[in-house]
Amino acid sequence: MSAFPPRAALDARWPPAHRLGAMLEARAPRPAPAVDDDDDDDDDARSRGERASGDVAPTRATRAPAFRASLFGFEDVSAFVDASEAEREQVVRLASQAVLREACGIERSGMAYAAKMALLAETVDERALYCHFAADEATHFARVAAHLDAPPRPGDPLDPFQALLVDAIDEGPRAALLFLVQVVLEGWGLAHYRRLLDGCASPGLARELRAILRDEARHHGSGLVLFDEAELDPRAEAFVEERLAALLALVAAGPIASLDALERGLGHLGRAGRARAFAELRGAAEARARLARLRALAACPALAAVVARLDARGAFTPHASEPT
Ligand SMILES: [Fe+2]
Ligand SMILES: [Fe+2]
Repeated sequence: MSAFPPRAALDARWPPAHRLGAMLEARAPRPAPAVDDDDDDDDDARSRGERASGDVAPTRATRAPAFRASLFGFEDVSAFVDASEAEREQVVRLASQAVLREACGIERSGMAYAAKMALLAETVDERALYCHFAADEATHFARVAAHLDAPPRPGDPLDPFQALLVDAIDEGPRAALLFLVQVVLEGWGLAHYRRLLDGCASPGLARELRAILRDEARHHGSGLVLFDEAELDPRAEAFVEERLAALLALVAAGPIASLDALERGLGHLGRAGRARAFAELRGAAEARARLARLRALAACPALAAVVARLDARGAFTPHASEPT
C-alpha cells in the first residue's frame, strides 16, 4: 500500500484558500545579486581600474540590453530602423526586460508546480524528484532575476500568460498538469530558451541559460516518462482542453510584447503604425510556427479528440493582424 493518500483524495483536498501560486508570489526567493558580465580577468582588472579612477560601474538599469535586436525581428521594422541609436537601444532593452520578466514568472510557477506535484506523488522516488525540480526552478528564478533592471516584487502584475499558468497550477488535477506543464509547456520552454540563448548579447546570461536548458531538458524528459495517458479521466481531459485553448489564443495573437516595446521606446505608433510593425515583425508567421510546435507537443493518442476539436475551432490558426 502506498505511504501517501491516493492522488484523487489529495486533488480533491487541495485547498483553494492556500493557493500555491499566491503563496509563492508572496514568498518568492530573493534574486541573486546583479551579475558582472565580464568574461575575463583583464576586463575585470580594467573595470576595477576604471572604478578606482572615478568612473561609475554599470548598474542594473544602465547595462546593455540582454538580447540582440535580431531575437525580436526588430531589424525588419521600418520604425525601428529609422529611429535614433538611443531609441533603438531603449526598444531592445524594454523587449529584453519583458522576456526576462516573463521567464521569472515561468520559473516561479515552476516552483509552485514542483511543490504541488511533490505533495501529490505516490512514491518517495517521485516526491524526491519533484523536490529536486523545485530547487532547480528556484535557482533558475534567481539566475534570471539577477538580469532584471528592477528585482521582481510580490504583487507585481501578472501578464496574461503568467496568470494562466498560476491559475492552472492552482486548480489542475495531477494528470492534466503533468501533461500541460511537463510535456507541453516544458517542451515548448526548451525551444524558447534555446532561442533566447541564440539571441543573447550577455556572456553572463548566456552561461545561465545554458545551465537552465540542461535542467529543463531533464524536467521535460521525466514528464514524458511519468505521463500516463490512462490517468487522463474526463475531468482532466476537459481541463487540458480548456487551458490549452487559452494558451493557444495567447500565442495566436502574435508578438504583442515586441509591439509594446516598440511603442514604449519610440512613442505612439498609431493604429496604422502598429499594423505595419506587426506585418514587418512577421507576426502571423511567427505565431504559426509556435502553434505548430505546440500541436506537435500535444499530439498523443489519448488527446487526439481534444486536438481535433481545438483545430476545428481554429485554435491553431494565427491572427493575420493584431487583435483589437
Ligand atoms: Fe526552470
Ligand atoms: Fe522546469
